[in-house]
Amino acid sequence: MQIEPLKQKCGNLVRDWLSQFNAMHIDHLERKWISISMLVIALMVGIITVDAFFHGVNPPSKVETINSASLHLSKEFAEDHLGVEVNDKGEIVIRMVAGRYSFFPKHIDVPAETPLTFRWVSMDVLHGVHIPMTNMSTMIVPGYVAEITTTFPKPGEYPLLCNEYCGLGHNHMWSNISVIAKEDWTAPVKPSESNNE
Ligand code: CUA
Repeated sequence: MQIEPLKQKCGNLVRDWLSQFNAMHIDHLERKWISISMLVIALMVGIITVDAFFHGVNPPSKVETINSASLHLSKEFAEDHLGVEVNDKGEIVIRMVAGRYSFFPKHIDVPAETPLTFRWVSMDVLHGVHIPMTNMSTMIVPGYVAEITTTFPKPGEYPLLCNEYCGLGHNHMWSNISVIAKEDWTAPVKPSESNNE
């Protein structure tokens, strides 16, 4: 019952606004530029929509929290567990800690043409991570785990750069990823297996 008057109200408002807009004197050139700006906005919204629905480009939706102050004591991000690991399901998981001014570990070897799940945490302030020439980029917010799954199509050397200003050493915050041909890559030995007591 309430909806009908509201609809009418909105309709009237829009009609009023349109008639006022039409009555306004807008220069011919200005009208042209308004149309161009509107077209550019529509194009951008269109690209975002197509990417989101057809290319799977979305912001990460999973929220996972972690205590940044005690990462070294945590089960997952203690020093021994950082780097590349093949989990029980056979998936490759890469754990890295971002801290002023580096990503730890400093260097990792991963296979090409294989899905890789990166898990990042920050031990101090807000950092970002970007791998040039790939579509991979995320913020690393203290207190949260940033997770992204990606694939490198070709072997090569890829830098891993911080892209959120985090302090005076921000420019020097980087690590290196060596992407190796799938058949040449061997899974690293788990720390629990290497020191068999
Ligand atoms: Cu870390 Cu900029």
